[in-house]
Amino acid sequence: MRAALYTEFQGSIDIVDLPDPVALPDGVVVRVEATGLCRSDWHGWMGHDPDITLPHVPGHELVGTVVEVGAAVSQWKVGDRVTVPFVAGCGRCEPCLKGDEQVCANQFQPGFTAWGSMAEYVALRYADRNLVRVPDEIDDITAALLGCRFATAYRGVVAQGRVRAGEWTAIHGCGGVGLAAIMIAHAYGARVVAIDPDSRARVLAAAIGADVVMSDLESLPDALRESTDGGPHLSIEAAGDPVAVAASVASLRPRGRHVQIGLLPANHTSIPMGTVIGRELQILGSHGMQAHRYPEMMEMILDGRLQPQHLLTRTITLSEIPQALPEMGHAKEAGVTAIDRMGG
Ligand SMILES: NC(=O)c1ccc[n+]([C@@H]2O[C@H](COP(=O)([O-])OP(=O)(O)OC[C@H]3O[C@@H](n4cnc5c(N)ncnc54)[C@H](O)[C@@H]3O)[C@@H](O)[C@H]2O)c1
Ligand SMILES: [Zn+2]
Ligand SMILES: [Zn+2]
Repeated sequence: MRAALYTEFQGSIDIVDLPDPVALPDGVVVRVEATGLCRSDWHGWMGHDPDITLPHVPGHELVGTVVEVGAAVSQWKVGDRVTVPFVAGCGRCEPCLKGDEQVCANQFQPGFTAWGSMAEYVALRYADRNLVRVPDEIDDITAALLGCRFATAYRGVVAQGRVRAGEWTAIHGCGGVGLAAIMIAHAYGARVVAIDPDSRARVLAAAIGADVVMSDLESLPDALRESTDGGPHLSIEAAGDPVAVAASVASLRPRGRHVQIGLLPANHTSIPMGTVIGRELQILGSHGMQAHRYPEMMEMILDGRLQPQHLLTRTITLSEIPQALPEMGHAKEAGVTAIDRMGG
């Protein structure tokens, strides 16, 4: 198969021929039809993810067709069209048994703990527990976004954030995750204020449902409190910047909820804990979304309340990955990029 491979962190990425993967007993092999280019792929290539061993094939936001099924898999067959949450749970550990595969103790992550989907084929583990059927009405590019950013935003806003109609939700960072969070919060009837220093991102944010947009002003907490009658009820950090974390927590109204989705440098200390105590704030993490929570999101996509395709600003070929992935460090496209021609 053709695949994008790197042999050192921050080194060159090459399109190479590799042996086709083989299905493990609990897994499947999927022919990749499309895959997203996510900020976490860039973090991986930079060397920020201890799960990655070299050489490595990135890619974790995929849709494709099952072409081989492991001997112990009972729920899936060749020809099924599927996506998979980027955190696939083992199904046997304590969190998995409680339905929390997104924090599984033995998690399989394509493109992190194993080779991923920036290739013509990808092997996935724990198939019965984690694959998600993709209806024909959802096209490949839209479906690819459901493996990570859109689903992660859905869990962050709905399950962890407990978004409510009429309440103010602030979204810090309007990249793939943040734009999805804006669309989802808006669909649930929240009033949305979106923050991003990039003017192109703010234009997209306004177009998909933000009521108010702001750049990362130095006086952001004050500006946020002013425009939301006393501070957001819910604030989502989807930037991965300690500055945004601090602004998010500082701006919340009493008993407000901060949900951390963006990945941060190790040992950052930007959460003002005095404020957390004094206002009884809730600080929550959010990590992917488990497969059994996909149906409610799929239903909203099928009836048009959510339109992930509106986040897409660019499609590229597999051959363009060696340039596009490192470029995210300095010249990132606004919106979402997906790879939809794996042979190209
Ligand atoms: N927790 C999870 O399960 C999970 C899943 C997917 C992605 N992530 C992480 O979420 C983050 C967002 O991912 P993405 O793909 O949307 O990234 P992205 O690079 O597409 O978007 C990030 C956006 O944040 C903006 N930004 C930077 N500093 C800011 C600040 N101080 N205030 C407001 N906005 C700021 C940037 O201009 C950019 O538009 C990344 O850290 C990614 O690794 C986490
Ligand atoms: Zn598990
Ligand atoms: Zn991702």
